[in-house]
Amino acid sequence: MPASKFYITTPIYYVNDRPHIGHAYTTILADVLARYHRLLGAPTWFLTGADEHGQKVQQAAAKAGIAPREQADRTVVRFQELWKRLEITNDDFIRTTEPRHYEVVQEILQDLYDRGEIYRAEYDGWYDVSSETFVNERDLNLAPGESPSDRPNITRIRESNYFFRMSKYQDWLIRYIEEHPEFIQPDFRRNETLGFLRKPLNDLCVSRPKSRLAWGIELPFDRDFVCYVWFDALVNYISAVGYRRDEARFRRWWPVNYHLIGKDILTTHTVYWPTMLKAMGLPMPQCVFAHGWWLAGQTKMSKSLGNVVNPMEMIDRYGVDPFRYFLMAEMSLGQDAAFTEEAFIRRYNADLANDLGNLASRVLKMVRANCGGRLPEGPAAEPPEGPEGELWKNVRAAAEELERAVEGMRLDAGLARVAAAVRETNRYLELKQPWTLAKAEDPGPLRVTLYTAAEALRVVSALLYPVMPRKMIELRRALGLGSEPPRIEQAKQWGVLKAGTEIGAPEALFPRIVADTSAPEPAPAAPAPAPKPPPSAAPAAPPAEISYDDFMRVDLRTAKVLTAERVAGADKLLRLEIEVGAERRQIVAGIAKSYAPEELIGKTIIVVANLKPAKIRGLESRGMLLAVADGDRLRLLTADGGVPPGVRAK
Ligand code: MSP
Repeated sequence: MPASKFYITTPIYYVNDRPHIGHAYTTILADVLARYHRLLGAPTWFLTGADEHGQKVQQAAAKAGIAPREQADRTVVRFQELWKRLEITNDDFIRTTEPRHYEVVQEILQDLYDRGEIYRAEYDGWYDVSSETFVNERDLNLAPGESPSDRPNITRIRESNYFFRMSKYQDWLIRYIEEHPEFIQPDFRRNETLGFLRKPLNDLCVSRPKSRLAWGIELPFDRDFVCYVWFDALVNYISAVGYRRDEARFRRWWPVNYHLIGKDILTTHTVYWPTMLKAMGLPMPQCVFAHGWWLAGQTKMSKSLGNVVNPMEMIDRYGVDPFRYFLMAEMSLGQDAAFTEEAFIRRYNADLANDLGNLASRVLKMVRANCGGRLPEGPAAEPPEGPEGELWKNVRAAAEELERAVEGMRLDAGLARVAAAVRETNRYLELKQPWTLAKAEDPGPLRVTLYTAAEALRVVSALLYPVMPRKMIELRRALGLGSEPPRIEQAKQWGVLKAGTEIGAPEALFPRIVADTSAPEPAPAAPAPAPKPPPSAAPAAPPAEISYDDFMRVDLRTAKVLTAERVAGADKLLRLEIEVGAERRQIVAGIAKSYAPEELIGKTIIVVANLKPAKIRGLESRGMLLAVADGDRLRLLTADGGVPPGVRAK
């Protein structure tokens, strides 16, 4: 069922520096979600833009010896060019220096001021120059004897300013968040915001005196001040869809379905923004979804470490679509993920070159070689059974599961399911051996096999189109489907490909990358060896068979993580307290490199509950959690749906 409408936003990016992988990630994610919803038939609006005011941009301009506006004009095109290259289909791009935005900000400020929601007061306290925020001593966690001014970027200021009465909405906001679990996602981020709201909430300073920061939107009621950059920036989400300008348009799109953000800007989006909207009398966003960070291996990316991934370089080297695919398939939404070129190459070669590229090349070449370049006649009706029926069921299920995964913001899981359907189709070919069938007298079995594999490929091309639009259109053209975006309802229908259609012979879709030189190598010709699963999924030799009774000796149960913390002196270990049924236990797990403690709280995991207790670093561990290694990363096994703790797996 398509949603009645789908409005999605990315953060608007600071124009102090060129775009990096974090910006590219959020924007591609929004693009993929927007494209899926368009395919599903929902009217869709996808907004991105640039955050052009404030200290960061003023400082970058000063460093470059140019005016802030010049700085913004020069940098914004780098973002716009990147979005073009990445095939981003945003419907609008808002710049906060445009009159359609800043005039609306000024009207909102005036209105809130007139209604007493904004007031003037003397501020005497600490100020963090780098984040442009007022800070409490308490938040700085000072060592005994340390003064805030000992910290870099912290200075004492005393000045008159304007404040938004944010504090008066604190109780309302807590209740709202508690009553609307879908509002902040994932769940552990909601808990983080609620944790923040446990402390008293201050009013929000929404002005900066021009003497200190001139680059901003002037307060309409006091020309000596400009507006605080976050107050200005957040308004983009409504000014861009016609707030105070075009009521019908605004009502059509607002409230937004998803604000996609990075985890570092959670408070601004889940505390400042909802209280601002409340004061304006507007409905709340349906969901603020915070994704994790891309790390360079295990470490944070930062300019000073020189390990920031430049998306332009990656695209130049490997192409746009594989880059989009990697980012979407590799990051579990909400968690951090590691970006390494090795991981990129591994996944590319496994999913794209070996599995999908190889499948396409096998099917298309065999049709050209054995059927005069035209698609042969296949079964007229959906194959009910046998290898064809099994394959078709699998492919259809992949289409359904991807749809559910998109709705549940589990894109990586959805893509993994599609990759599994591709592997299944390769397995089908291994089973049917069309290269042998081609030598037989009766052309029937070969025709059925090639037609069925081509249908599977068609469905896959539709499912992956939002992630890899260009490559999938290339594939669809080769299948005689034209260049139009796929129609999603056809993804679950049998028999869309027409017998007799001329089949193209595209270049290798995904030439294999040879890891040591990074140079592309041609794809193997058909018939090709059986596709290999990615290395991490291949056990050396399968363990011996066991009976069900043997299996039932292992007490596998769901457990809820109540607390999690690092184990001092052990960089791989976390100490967890878990709830297993009515029981509370401690376990020690070697997952600290893959999960931050706060990500685990509230999660339902699977544990071996009857494993003999062990002492690890002096701590008793009663039970073992289950995880799989995906390259260097461990991923926890969890239970689908809201299963309570203590339920046995069988
Ligand atoms: N201008 C503000 C947003 C205002 S929205 C009303 C801002 N801009 S930003 O350019 O600094 O960052 C934009 C986004 O990039 C944030 O969501 C941030 O989380 C994300 N990322 C920055 N580095 C990142 C990674 N290494 N990985 C993933 N995303 C990260 O904040």
